Amino acid sequence: MRYYPKGSSTLLDSNCTMSLETRFTQLIGIRYPIIQAPMAGGATTPDLVAAVCNSGGLGSFAAGILSPEGIRPGIAEIRRRTDRPFGVNLFVLDPPNPNPDPAHLAQAMEWLEPFRRELGLPPAAAPTRYCEPFADQVAAVLEARPPVVSFAFGLLDPSRVAEFKAAGSLVVGTATTVAEARAWASVGADAVCAQGVEAGGHRGTFLSDFDGAMIGTLALVPQVADAVKIPVIVAGGIMDGRGIAAALILGAAACQLGTAFLTCPEAGIPPVWKDLLQRTTDDGTQITRVFSGRPARALANDFIKRMRAHEDEVPPYPIQNALTMDIRQAAAQANRPEYLSLYAGQAAGLSRGLPAADLIARLVEETEEVLRQGVRLVNPP
Ligand SMILES: Cc1cc2nc3c(=O)[nH]c(=O)nc-3n(C[C@H](O)[C@H](O)[C@H](O)COP(=O)(O)O)c2cc1C
Repeated sequence: MRYYPKGSSTLLDSNCTMSLETRFTQLIGIRYPIIQAPMAGGATTPDLVAAVCNSGGLGSFAAGILSPEGIRPGIAEIRRRTDRPFGVNLFVLDPPNPNPDPAHLAQAMEWLEPFRRELGLPPAAAPTRYCEPFADQVAAVLEARPPVVSFAFGLLDPSRVAEFKAAGSLVVGTATTVAEARAWASVGADAVCAQGVEAGGHRGTFLSDFDGAMIGTLALVPQVADAVKIPVIVAGGIMDGRGIAAALILGAAACQLGTAFLTCPEAGIPPVWKDLLQRTTDDGTQITRVFSGRPARALANDFIKRMRAHEDEVPPYPIQNALTMDIRQAAAQANRPEYLSLYAGQAAGLSRGLPAADLIARLVEETEEVLRQGVRLVNPP
């Protein structure tokens, strides 16, 4: 007799022999339905990505704020370290380089001056560019032909999706609502990542208004799984085998974990951020726009508190992100976490600080154990 959690392809036979194979693992050609999330800002080093891939998961390289000159060597380095499938992630930005109102820009810069002074930075000059041109990033990724490409913040048009597929890349879109998941399915995506409100980092929302799209993972995943035929990846608040097993039972074909990988020694974030992640509590994060202009979940700190009065007024992403960039860089150098964007999910307190290979092994072991226990519950002796 076989037990099939509804909507999942994970199987358990009567001898409790476990397979974590799913539609997603088959599609990509990986062993475990575990994805290390792309995390822009330097966390997802080639070392981290390759360690995850070599351990049977899917590592993802965040290229959302990188220029083509940063994207190409990153991908080449991953290929030197692993021959397994990996992913590359971009932000879909439209318009690519906005033209903010000069008065609003001057006001936004003024709000940041006290932080600049405290960090010894000179008064800011208005940036000439707010982000890397999306078309150049796309060209670099198309040329590199990674096995998987994933996107957040927007939707590709069907011809662009077809271009990536023709280059040999599987396409994954990020959705925070059922409508966004349907939109990705309709443009031809191979899979969709449903991001619950628990998730660390930026909200991927692009169709709904941000407030309406703050949907918890437990509520979002089954609704997305019922709405689309493509495999559903779950992101948000998953830190261990309990979370992975729960997501698989809800209908996920894979789980995308971000915060859980931030404390790995291979993750390229400042040690003080790793330390704070391991010491935080369930109520230690907040969703805020003050770092980048787009709602994102981060550990609460002084910058968020002092900028709260301007929460609704700071310019949208990528303008505010560019304005705070050198404050965040200077804060990292000066070891001042109170001014860093400490992006983290609501379950950050479950961080373990293990090397990536050990973390994957532990996650697999725990997931199998929880699913076995689950079978005992539904099939009592
Ligand atoms: C530090 C950090 C940076 C992130 N950067 C990206 C990114 O560049 N692209 C993206 O699609 N998602 C990004 N995310 C969101 C993750 O893909 C994922 O949705 C989230 O980490 C899942 O929630 P968890 O952190 O609770 O595991 C980021 C998350 C964190 C914590």
